[in-house]
Amino acid sequence: MSNYHIKHLEEYFQVYRKSVRNPEVFWEEIAEEHFMWRKKWDAVLNWDFKKPEVTWFQGAQLNITENCIDRHLQTRGDKTAIVFEPNDPKEKALHISYKELYERVNKFANVLKSQGIKKGDRVCIYLPMIPELAVALLACARIGAIHSVVFAGFSSTALATRINDSDCKMVITSDGSYRGAKTIDLKSIVDEGLESCSCVETVLVVKRIHNSIQMKEGRDKWLQPLLDEAYGECAPEIMNAEDPLFILYTSGSTGMPKGMVHTTAGYMVYTAYTFKNVFQYKEEDVYWCTADIGWITGHSYIVYGPLANGATTVISEGVPNYPDWGRFWEIVEKHKITQFYTAPTAIRALAKENLSYVEKYDLSSLKVLGTVGEPINEEAWHWYNDNIGKKKSPIVDTWWQTETGGIMITPIPFSTPTKPTYATLPFPGIQPALMDENGQEIHGNQVDGRLCIKFPWPSMARTIWGNHQRYKETYFSAFENMYFTGDGALRDEVGYYRITGRVDDVIIVSGHNLGTAPIEDAINEHPAVAESAIVGFPHDIKGNALYGYVILKETGESRDHDNVRKEINQIITEHIGPIAKLDKIQFTSGLPKTRSGKIMRRILRKIASNETENLGDTSTLLNPEVVQEIMDNVL
Ligand code: WT7
Repeated sequence: MSNYHIKHLEEYFQVYRKSVRNPEVFWEEIAEEHFMWRKKWDAVLNWDFKKPEVTWFQGAQLNITENCIDRHLQTRGDKTAIVFEPNDPKEKALHISYKELYERVNKFANVLKSQGIKKGDRVCIYLPMIPELAVALLACARIGAIHSVVFAGFSSTALATRINDSDCKMVITSDGSYRGAKTIDLKSIVDEGLESCSCVETVLVVKRIHNSIQMKEGRDKWLQPLLDEAYGECAPEIMNAEDPLFILYTSGSTGMPKGMVHTTAGYMVYTAYTFKNVFQYKEEDVYWCTADIGWITGHSYIVYGPLANGATTVISEGVPNYPDWGRFWEIVEKHKITQFYTAPTAIRALAKENLSYVEKYDLSSLKVLGTVGEPINEEAWHWYNDNIGKKKSPIVDTWWQTETGGIMITPIPFSTPTKPTYATLPFPGIQPALMDENGQEIHGNQVDGRLCIKFPWPSMARTIWGNHQRYKETYFSAFENMYFTGDGALRDEVGYYRITGRVDDVIIVSGHNLGTAPIEDAINEHPAVAESAIVGFPHDIKGNALYGYVILKETGESRDHDNVRKEINQIITEHIGPIAKLDKIQFTSGLPKTRSGKIMRRILRKIASNETENLGDTSTLLNPEVVQEIMDNVL
């Protein structure tokens, strides 16, 4: 019997040991007991990190939508699968039952077929956070088409690059999207992008904002009339375990975005099993992840993981500050959210605002809180723990990547004691290693190094679309026989992991390795500081010196800037040592961020180093306008 649901710390250790000693037996039991297969596998695992090549459940046949929808119809047909919470709180929320989801997905799948989409074809999905987005993913999966979701905040150039790279035959978009008080004309972004894409034959358009848009004759079709005519049953395509399920692009440190390819069976098993345990999901729960389905977090933990467990998952269209900064907490109260999963950047933004936005709402339904995407600083962790979880809901700081498909290092709530800023322990099946610069594994505790994974896990990306060589070079070449994450991490005295940030963000000052994250954590403890980012810039004596960009809280803005600078360096000295003091501190109203909320240190580094001739593409930033402000005020 598999321990599908881990309930206490001892059980975690027992399950973990089993998963490492006998991985194939471990995963086989989970796969056998909790999923629906058309045919069982010939081999649980084949792997060779040298090639690299990994297969899970080779020989098995299945369809992931049968696992996410069909098999729940008997027991949970009337249960809500998806709660849709619109951008505008005055618009009614929608509750889509498993039965309704079945019908929507089947009809949509038949529409795709009627438009000539077949197994293996690539379909680009460029939609706002509306139910059709989840339905579109599942409709592709129903017929074996490979979906490639592009976050609907990307520009037309970024969209076109991704469409061309994977040769998409179809684009699914909408007549626009709501974002707070604004609307965005997605269709014209698609039209502009498609001027440079000859592979796209059809554009399906969802009506959302009733915007008047251009429809290109022969290419563009409204979705609704096609759905109205479609038959409500579509036999699932029988897929092989290793058939691609989707492509999702992630940016590399250089060049083209990488189309990470995820396959069917392993991805399903791993996302479902992690969802169940990391969120301690129970049948009556209402789970909300605030990420966009355009990112891996949304694929794995809004759509596939929750639905594979027959869960109720919330899709929210809006933004945290519309109509005001209480919006998240209003939604938590309204739908009695039990698990809430968000990003540290959102937490910091929310923590900057008046606490009355939180206190207005009843958050007592919450049981588990989660964070993902970047290291969470101590101050934000405590704010989240004190004010949202009321010190009663464990925070799961989940470390993982687009490439890993699912959560890798995380506490198991109610089992693993949490520790602020620590992702804590590896999930069952995950074998982390810390490596030194010479390629040697660093054993023991209280050490730090480069974070690698020694053994395959079911949801790892299998390749980069069209470029297996790059997959090999990026992930399997830095360290022999290891998957290299690109992150640095430390292991504390009890074996807990703390992710210290991308190793490319390490700055060597006077021969000392300094991670940007701990310095930023220290700065953020200053009561006047809202957020900060550190980069290195060339220095005659030290090699590199540190340059800090600091956003002050509203309450800090009136303070004497030089005094604040001194105090910041005082705090850094206290937390890390004088070596980590900043040579320059620039106050700014914002930091350049990617759409997923990551600070673009590359741009900040160039500005601090006076290399502004070639800043690279800033058009895909969330806030491109801030770059000029920072350049104008550079020290
Ligand atoms: C990178 C992956 C995984 C979904 C969202 C991001 C950083 C992610 C954590 C965490 C510290 C984290 C890492 C990782 N990261 N989660 N809990 N603590 N750092 O996916 O865009 O592929 O980014 O995000 O640096 O390598 P992604």
